[in-house]
Amino acid sequence: MLADSIAAFQPAPAPASPRQVRIVALRAALARRIVGQERLLDRMVVALLTGGHLLVEGLPGLAKTTAVKALAQAVQASFQRVQFTPDLLPGDITGGDVFMPAQGCSRFVAGPLFHDIVLADEINRAPAKVQSALLEAMQERQVTVGGATHGLPPLFLVVATQNPLEQSGTYPLPEAQLDRFLLHAVVDYPSAEQERTILDLDLAGDAWRRGAEQPRAVVDSDTVLQARAEVRDVHLADSLRQAIVDLVRATREPQLRDASLAGLVAAGASPRAVLALAHAAQALAYLRGRDYATADDVVELAPDVLRHRIVSTLESELRGVDADALVRQLLRRCGFD
Ligand SMILES: Nc1ncnc2c1ncn2[C@@H]1O[C@H](COP(=O)(O)OP(=O)(O)O)[C@@H](O)[C@H]1O
Ligand SMILES: [Mg+2]
Repeated sequence: MLADSIAAFQPAPAPASPRQVRIVALRAALARRIVGQERLLDRMVVALLTGGHLLVEGLPGLAKTTAVKALAQAVQASFQRVQFTPDLLPGDITGGDVFMPAQGCSRFVAGPLFHDIVLADEINRAPAKVQSALLEAMQERQVTVGGATHGLPPLFLVVATQNPLEQSGTYPLPEAQLDRFLLHAVVDYPSAEQERTILDLDLAGDAWRRGAEQPRAVVDSDTVLQARAEVRDVHLADSLRQAIVDLVRATREPQLRDASLAGLVAAGASPRAVLALAHAAQALAYLRGRDYATADDVVELAPDVLRHRIVSTLESELRGVDADALVRQLLRRCGFD
C-alpha cells in the first residue's frame, strides 16, 4: 500500500545531470569487468555516492577484490589494499610519527588509510585494536596520532571484506562498531551461465584484459564529490521518510508489529540506520537515473542496511529467524509490499 502512495508521486522526469550520466557509465564499466554480482556492484556505487563504507561478506574467489580494484580504476582514485592479519598493529594502517634525525624532530608518515579507496581485506583477521583504529577513521574521516589530527582524502571510502566460514583465529567485529558500515552486502556464487562466461573471458586472456573491456577512468574524484551533493537532493517523499523511521523502529520492538516476533531481538538498529537507509535509497535512485526515491529502493536496500545492526537473540537462532528473515517480515508488516 505504501508502494501505491509512492507510485502516485511521479514528478516529471528531470533531465539527468551530466554527473548522473557519468555515474551510470561508471556502473556500466564495472559490469564489463565483473560478470553478474549486480548487487555487489550496485552497492559499491551506492557507498561511493553517499561516502558511506561497505562491508562485503563472501567466500574467497567471488571477485570481491577484483570488483573493488575495478571501482578504483574506473573512478581514477588512489587505491590501497590492506591485508588484515593477526599481527597487524594500529600504526600499520594509520601511519605514525617518525623521528627524523637530520631535522631533529618527528614527522607524521601517513599509513595506507590515506587513500581514496581502501580495501580492508579479511577485516576479521585483525585484532580489536586495529579494527577500532579503522572504524574510528571511517567514522571521523580523520586520524589522530600523538595529539595531532590528519584529515583523510575527501573521497575516502572503505570496502572491508569478511569470509563467513573462517571462524577460528578470527576476531568478530564488535556489534557496536558494525554500525559504522553503511551497508553489509552478501556475495553469493554466480549462476552456471555466468560462471561459464567468467571462464570464457579468462581464456580470452590478455587480449581481453588489455583490451577495450578494461574499465578506464570514467569519472574523476571531483565528479564523484559533485554527484554526492546531488544525491543529497534526491527527493524522499514524506510518506517514505515516515516508513523508513517506522521500519527501523520496528527492529527494536518487532513484537509491536507481530506478536510472533517477540523475543527475537536483543538490540535493534540505531537512528544511524534511519539515516543510512534514507541516504542509500537516494543514492540507488540516482544510480537508476531518477531524482526521487521509491519504496522499491528502500525494500531493495533494507536488508543490507539492517542485517549487521540487529543483534539477534539465542531464541532467534533456535527458531531459525535470522536478521534477514526478520527484516523481510518487518518490511511486510510496515506496508512495503
Ligand atoms: N563474477 C566474476 N566476474 C569476473 N571474474 C570473476 C568473477 N568471479 C570470480 N572471478 C575471477 O576469479 C578470481 C578470484 O577473484 P578475487 O577478486 O580474487 O576473489 P575474492 O577477492 O572474492 O577472493 C579472479 O581471477 C576473478 O577475475
Ligand atoms: Mg580477495
